[in-house]
Amino acid sequence: EDGAGFVGAADTDYAEEEARRKSAAAFATVHQQLGKTYLPLINGEYTNTSIFIDSLNPSNFSQVIGKVGLISIEQAEQAMKAAKAAFPAWRKTPAKQRADILRKAGDLMSQRRAELSAWIVLEVGKPVKEADAEVSEAIDFCKYYADEMERLDKGVNYDVSGETNRYLYQPRGIAVVISPWNFPLAIACGMTVAALVAGNCTLLKPAETSSVITAKLTEILVEAGIPQGVYQYVPGKGSQVGAYLVNHPDTHVIAFTGSQEVGCRIYAEASILKPGQKHMKRVIAEMGGKNGIIVDESADLDQAVVGVVQSAFGYSGQKCSACSRVIVLESIYDSFVERLVEATKSLNIGETELPGTQIGPVIDANARDRIREYIEKGKSEAKLALELPAPAQGYFIGPVIFSEVPPNGIIAQQEIFGPVLAVIRVKNFEEALAVANGTNYALTGGLYSRTPSHIQQAQQEFEVGNLYINRTITGAIVARQPFGGFNLSGVGSKAGGPDYLLQFLEPRTITENI
Ligand code: NAD
Ligand code: ALA
Repeated sequence: EDGAGFVGAADTDYAEEEARRKSAAAFATVHQQLGKTYLPLINGEYTNTSIFIDSLNPSNFSQVIGKVGLISIEQAEQAMKAAKAAFPAWRKTPAKQRADILRKAGDLMSQRRAELSAWIVLEVGKPVKEADAEVSEAIDFCKYYADEMERLDKGVNYDVSGETNRYLYQPRGIAVVISPWNFPLAIACGMTVAALVAGNCTLLKPAETSSVITAKLTEILVEAGIPQGVYQYVPGKGSQVGAYLVNHPDTHVIAFTGSQEVGCRIYAEASILKPGQKHMKRVIAEMGGKNGIIVDESADLDQAVVGVVQSAFGYSGQKCSACSRVIVLESIYDSFVERLVEATKSLNIGETELPGTQIGPVIDANARDRIREYIEKGKSEAKLALELPAPAQGYFIGPVIFSEVPPNGIIAQQEIFGPVLAVIRVKNFEEALAVANGTNYALTGGLYSRTPSHIQQAQQEFEVGNLYINRTITGAIVARQPFGGFNLSGVGSKAGGPDYLLQFLEPRTITENI
């Protein structure tokens, strides 16, 4: 029953002229607002800071999207105190009232859909169609978690004759949300509203490179009626402010999405009991992937090629769900690689504001340089099958395909987080599954096959949190494909699923002898 019947927000249909007109108008408005200053929200007040960073457009880094004030450690402490002060009233606020704030926030996002998409395009270089889908996901998180909280708030009744037994959920306390830049609205919003609706006072520390979009989310939550101190926006350096909040004795829950390195560090730091701390911290860590798609000899190759291209190169491979390995059976290997290369050549690279664009820039100079290093490593360990040129302006990298990649090679094992795809040759389906499972990650995976026994075996043995059969492996939808991985991809948390809110809640059993 859980999730069934939930109807998500519809994406914009850019085939409609009216939608394209609205999108162009939103871009024009947003362009006029570029370069403004955004301040942290501490205890209900937009508060000045001594340090500012420029958030730049990765397609054109001479364009400043906004100037973002970064908080100091003293301000992080003020925010923590304000959160503690706001908690007694927020925890008593009825679940329905908290849920209605989320629903209002979702409605405000729907009204501002074209504008929010434009901010995503300009701040993180995501092509507009994918930015629009991200706005849908953020709206869905608000509406779905609102429904979920009302469901859980009913608790469970285990009464027997002479004794009432009630199973109830209460908030945990203070939640620190640490978000990545690659789904700057949806993931930041999802973790934040989940923590809030469960009754926790919540501090959002966004990734430095996407702090303008989270400032827009902040405007929306304030307008939706979130009380002072209950939600606070605390942009800052991850290694400084992020680490301070993780280590704080008053933090109860840490909801983190980002790299494996930082996730593991947070997990370790959160486990150390600090002076004055009277509880164990709960860490929700959602991390990277090295996701593989298996293509067997019975696959519909037209479908497989399109699905692999989209999964590997959508948002330039900068999705934790992206395909970075394709594992192909020997009998079809050569023709698959040939068709994959041809299909990739036809991708539109460039202007992210246009609905027809498929490939934009990568996020920043560090990412570009890191990806280039991986491409060089790839050239020394595999065969270069394609390296497409990219626009000179901005941090663009053209899609790259390597074939004959050894399964244990660096580019087949490490998360590159860019438009680089490793094609691996295998002899049979058993070997394909062994290679697919042969990394430290377990996030998404895919299979293209028309062999029922292979499909069944993959369902049982392909070790990933989200397995997709005969379709793309990105673009999970709330309450349809609850999303998240295990092993070193994460703690097994499923965003957009029926267990998600439980991580932010403390269950209690109350028994009364009557
Ligand atoms: P990142 O780990 O570099 O940063 C994520 C966040 O952690 C940022 O807000 C950053 O400021 C903060 N941070 C950095 N050091 C910290 C510290 N010592 N203590 C506390 N906070 C700290 O990741 P990123 O580059 O923003 O995002 C890309 C990564 O995220 C990729 O690995 C990708 O696979 C992963 N990701 C995973 C999922 C998922 O659902 N599993 C979704 C999106 C992205
Ligand atoms: N939830 C995102 C996807 O499925 C990361 O692509």
